[in-house]
Order: sequence, then structure tokens, then C-alpha cells
Amino acid sequence: MSLESVRYSRGSLQVLNQLLLPHKSEYEPVTGVQQGADAIRTMKVRGAPAIAIVGVLSLAVELTTKPCQDVPSLITFVRESLHHLVSARPTAVNMKKAADELNAFLAEEADKPGATSQRLTESVVQWAESLLKKDVEDNQMIGDFGAKHILEKAGPTEKVCMLTHCNTGSLATAGYGTALGVVRSLHALGRLSHVFCTETRPYNQGSRLTAYELVYEKIPATLITDSMASVTMRERKVTAVVVGADRVVANGDTANKIGTYQLAIIAKYHGIPFYVAAPSTSCDLSLPTGGSIVIEERPSHELTDINGIRIAAPGIDVWNPAFDVTPHELITGIITERGVFKPEELKDGLTKGQ
Ligand code: MRU
Repeated sequence: MSLESVRYSRGSLQVLNQLLLPHKSEYEPVTGVQQGADAIRTMKVRGAPAIAIVGVLSLAVELTTKPCQDVPSLITFVRESLHHLVSARPTAVNMKKAADELNAFLAEEADKPGATSQRLTESVVQWAESLLKKDVEDNQMIGDFGAKHILEKAGPTEKVCMLTHCNTGSLATAGYGTALGVVRSLHALGRLSHVFCTETRPYNQGSRLTAYELVYEKIPATLITDSMASVTMRERKVTAVVVGADRVVANGDTANKIGTYQLAIIAKYHGIPFYVAAPSTSCDLSLPTGGSIVIEERPSHELTDINGIRIAAPGIDVWNPAFDVTPHELITGIITERGVFKPEELKDGLTKGQ
């Protein structure tokens, strides 16, 4: 069984506290919206899809255990809760998109004849639950599309060597993973020779979480520091780089974990294809370019301290942007659950047939 970032059944939500990994695997109950927002803000749960899933499920749990008495108070509670959840982390678009869609869905349902607070609560809870199921399905599609696409460029039995950044696996999603899902699919096909995962400073999602998942899944993998990426590409015959996304905008510019941009630049220098793997829930076609994406800045202690022990010189100033934006020109393809698109094809590709 693969790792689970969340455990949910009607009225009950538990999240794996990722702050304790890889040393301790401990699930904590999330009984409502405030605890959900806190788990997201403190990064007990992180990764764009998992943030949205925990957000809407925390709302579903609160609505199930403490039902609203009438339709207007339900609508207000849902709207205010979603607003609060969206503000917990600003760069990943998944929670914002889920909030907009759920508010619109609720308004539509409330307009139907015979709408009661009980019926509407049931609809909202079902909507939240469907997000969990859809994310796993989407990730498996991303894995399949991505693996197939990467192998099209390889010899018929050739194995490929991948490099990935941050954590985009089961821990960052409802299961399977996006960029790490592509790696998993390649491994399942027997076509992965090796994967290199970066440490992902300053928060070490790579060494703490991706390395943990790769060891757990018995995938042949090696951890490198972020500063070893160029030499790894040159000397270890990396076939392709695959990373996740927190927000892909209409022209294909992509916000992802800090350090993604420099990986894309050095991949280009070495002639190595650079892929972004992301569900359509991470795509924000309302923004034309990446220039207007809000980049979250995190506290300085994430850089200066390790496990509560200060390693940086006291008094030094710190800048800690959690994400950067990779310009679309550096991206070979965007792997989604609907197929693999060149950045300039993404908008049409995602809107076609809707
Ligand atoms: O700060 P984090 O750990 O939430 O950042 C995670 C990333 O940047 C991931 O690459 C992205 O959210 C995609 S997860 C499938």
C-alpha cells in the first residue's frame, strides 16, 4: 500500500504530520476548518493538491459534525471558511480553485426548489469527497501520460534516468503523486534506471519526504544537494527532469518550489528536457503570465535553523521565498491528466471539450 497523506471517512479526517517525517509517522485528527487551516499554514500537510484536499475535507468534517441550522447560515459559513482556508498559503492555486468552484456549486444548489440546509450539506460534503477520489485518478493519468511521453523519445528497451525536485508524491497529493507519479509509472514499467532527488533547501522536502517515499517504494534513487544538480546532469546521464507545480498560468509559466527555475536553466544548458507534471486543478488560466503570481515568503528560521538549532551566523539578513516562477520558454512539456502539452498549447488543450 502506498503512503497516505490523509485518512478520511465521513465525519473524520486525519493528516499525516509531515513535520515529523521521516522519523515518526503520526496521524493527527483535523476536526474542522480552523485545524485544517493551521495544518496547512504550519506545513503539517503541504503540496498543492493535498492542501486543497485537506482544506475542503476539513470543511466537510465540520459540516458533518456541527451542521448549520438554515440555508443562509450554511452559505455564509462555507464562504467564510473557504476564504480562511485560501489565505493559509497563497501560491498554490488548488485551494483557491476548489473554493471558487465549491462556492459556485453551493449557490447553484441553493437556488434549486426544495433546497434545505441538510440537503445542501450533503451536496457540499459529497463535492469535497469527490475531490479526493478525482486527485488519485488524475495522478495515475499524469503518471501514464508522462511515462509514455518520455519513453517515446527513448530506445525500445532503453531505461531512463530522471531528476526531480521537492516532494510531489503520495504525501503531496491524495495518492500516487504528480512528478513522482511519472517516476513511479516509469519504475512500474521496468523502464526507470535511476532517479535523483534534490534535498530541496531550505525546507528539505526532498531529503525528508521524497527520499522517504522512494525508499518506501523501493525505487532506485539517490539524494543530491540542490547545488549538485548541474554536475549530476552532466555526469550521470539524466534523461529528463520532472517537477510539480503550485500554479501553471495560461502561457505555461510555472510557479513551483524554490530552486525549480535554476533546474530549468541548467537542464536547457545540458540539452535535457524539462517537464512540469500537474493536474488541471493546479492550472490557473485566469493569469496570462507568471509575473502576477503571489509568491509566499516563509519565516527566516527555516533557513537559519535545522531542527531548532541555529546554523547561520546570528544577525544575518534572510530572504526566504518558498517558490519561484519558471518561464515557459524553459519548459519542454506540461504533463496533465488530459495529456502532455507544450506550454503554448496548454490553454487550448485544457479548455477544449469543456
Ligand atoms: O511548500 P510545499 O512543500 O507545499 O511545496 C510543494 C511544491 O512546490 C510541489 O512541487 C507542488 O506543490 C506540487 S505537489 C504535487
